Amino acid sequence: MDIQSAINVRHSRRAYDGKGLALEDAVKLHDLVTEYSKVPGVDIRFITNNGVAFNGVTKSYGIFTGVNDYFLLIRNKDNPKSSIKLGYYGELLVLRCTEMGLNTCWVGATFSARDFNVTLDDDQVVECAITVGHSPKRHTVHENLIHMIYHPRTKKVSDMYTSEAESVPDWFLKGMAAVQRAPSAFNRQPAHFIYHKDGTVSVQSKDVETIGSLGIDIGIAKLHFEIGSGRKFTSDTKVNSNL
Ligand SMILES: Cc1cc2nc3c(=O)[nH]c(=O)nc-3n(C[C@H](O)[C@H](O)[C@H](O)COP(=O)(O)O)c2cc1C
Repeated sequence: MDIQSAINVRHSRRAYDGKGLALEDAVKLHDLVTEYSKVPGVDIRFITNNGVAFNGVTKSYGIFTGVNDYFLLIRNKDNPKSSIKLGYYGELLVLRCTEMGLNTCWVGATFSARDFNVTLDDDQVVECAITVGHSPKRHTVHENLIHMIYHPRTKKVSDMYTSEAESVPDWFLKGMAAVQRAPSAFNRQPAHFIYHKDGTVSVQSKDVETIGSLGIDIGIAKLHFEIGSGRKFTSDTKVNSNL
């Protein structure tokens, strides 16, 4: 499976078989985490064989079951802007997991943070988690319920961008199709893209600051846009169309 196909098949799973990862997969994920954590502002920890922060009614309101392994995305308290980068690299990890046949879910709220098995410096904070593992083929009742709550809200591509030009090129629309499939907290899809007259593209979150999980959502959307469009962002929020 390539990364574009991973975008098409990925969806959040909250029930896992509780058996943990094969050693080979765990080693691969450990290497990816080490590689991405070399990027300034990105600190990802891989927690294995300890799902206590998720499993059980008191931990995730019963939404998550059988979690055994997860990633924690950590940022400096004084650097809220690094959330965008964490979203970008966290989603790269999610799509790599999907390519490996693993299931995932971003988690910003439904966990018990005090049960995270991690040591932080005083100036660090856990921004988000991503669960990973093997899910049963059939979705649980909880999973179906959450899907029914959030998915009817999925935005139309045309509502996710503004164009300053009369028409937009094909590569831009391919990027936007990938953005439409991006995970976001509560499926609110806050990333709004602008196609400028000079052929550049920028992204912002409508009406709200791009910090916290909103920053995460923007970072995730940026990665999806790059993969779908085949164009790279040249700065935090801008794509140069001639690249
Ligand atoms: C930053 C972020 C935080 C999230 N937090 C939670 C959470 O706390 N609990 C949960 O069940 N799902 C959480 N999700 C998953 C979203 O609900 C899910 O991505 C969205 O409904 C779209 O569904 P999909 O991922 O299946 O496409 C989160 C997603 C993101 C990106």
